[in-house]
Amino acid sequence: MGNWYDPYMLLDDPVIVADARHRVLAVNPAYERASGFRCKDLTGKEAVYAKPKGLIPGTSASVCEHVERGQGWKGIVTCERADGELWNFSLTVTPVRAFGQVYYLAVCRDLEELRYQAISESYEQLFLLIAQLAETGDPSVQPHLDRVGRLSRSLAEWLGWPEARARWLGMASVLHDVGKLYIPREILFKPGPLTPAERRLVETHTTQGAELLTRFSENMAKIYGYNEALLMAREIAQCHHEHVDGSGYPKGLRGEEIPESARIVALADVTDALFSHRPYKIPWAASQVQRYLRTKSGRQFDPKMVRVLLDHWKEVEELYRLQPAIPTGIIGNG
Ligand SMILES: [Fe+2]
Ligand SMILES: [Fe+2]
Repeated sequence: MGNWYDPYMLLDDPVIVADARHRVLAVNPAYERASGFRCKDLTGKEAVYAKPKGLIPGTSASVCEHVERGQGWKGIVTCERADGELWNFSLTVTPVRAFGQVYYLAVCRDLEELRYQAISESYEQLFLLIAQLAETGDPSVQPHLDRVGRLSRSLAEWLGWPEARARWLGMASVLHDVGKLYIPREILFKPGPLTPAERRLVETHTTQGAELLTRFSENMAKIYGYNEALLMAREIAQCHHEHVDGSGYPKGLRGEEIPESARIVALADVTDALFSHRPYKIPWAASQVQRYLRTKSGRQFDPKMVRVLLDHWKEVEELYRLQPAIPTGIIGNG
């Protein structure tokens, strides 16, 4: 028979399970990897959070005081790994009652991971803010960006991208039209067709957006190192109007010359536009959208991506049920 805490042993975060006297019952493989100590060497010994010298001075007393009062404890701590190196992590100790006994569950989350989350959340907010600014005046922009972000991320996952990278892509996708910051509003929102000169000007939103993001990315890199989402955002801004048959702009790139990130976002962006209200069109029915994507497969869009999108069509429709495209009274060009 297994133990009540067995499911915790499967977590990706390092975990210690201790008894009421803070003696280790088990640590999970993630803890073994992070600390360098083996489970069998720690079993029966005092848990690191309870050792007077196990953590940065002062914290162990505070941890025990809190948990013994039945309260949890959470904080950033440092302890020594098996190899003598210091290990920084965020510790959460929670008292757990199981089968009439008190146990303690300590979860150690890597600080790098926390930093990563804080940074990615700040970037996410910043990206959305800039993207919305670029199209100020169009109330449908935020929901459009939100749906393009979700659809791009899902499409990347269906294509087999690792989850973290797919998430970066979802964040980066909202900046696809950031170059519209440089396009005069009267052209961007002009009702009716654009003149050829106006069309050429609108098309510069790709290169202008990429230039802006290059400057931004280089400046951020001096302080924080490169950010994958920003690097992707740059290539997406540059290439989201390229077509796989070479008929797109600004460079007429073909097939895999177009970065995969930009091919994904191009498909998500157009799919969302077809599902959306525009002053000149009502939202298309799902079957019409599917038909359109099929006809553009291999011409405008990467055929493999169209196939994957159509294979997951139920999930796509679900996204639109959850978050229907709202009508807008403004025409967006580009
Ligand atoms: Fe665009
Ligand atoms: Fe868009």
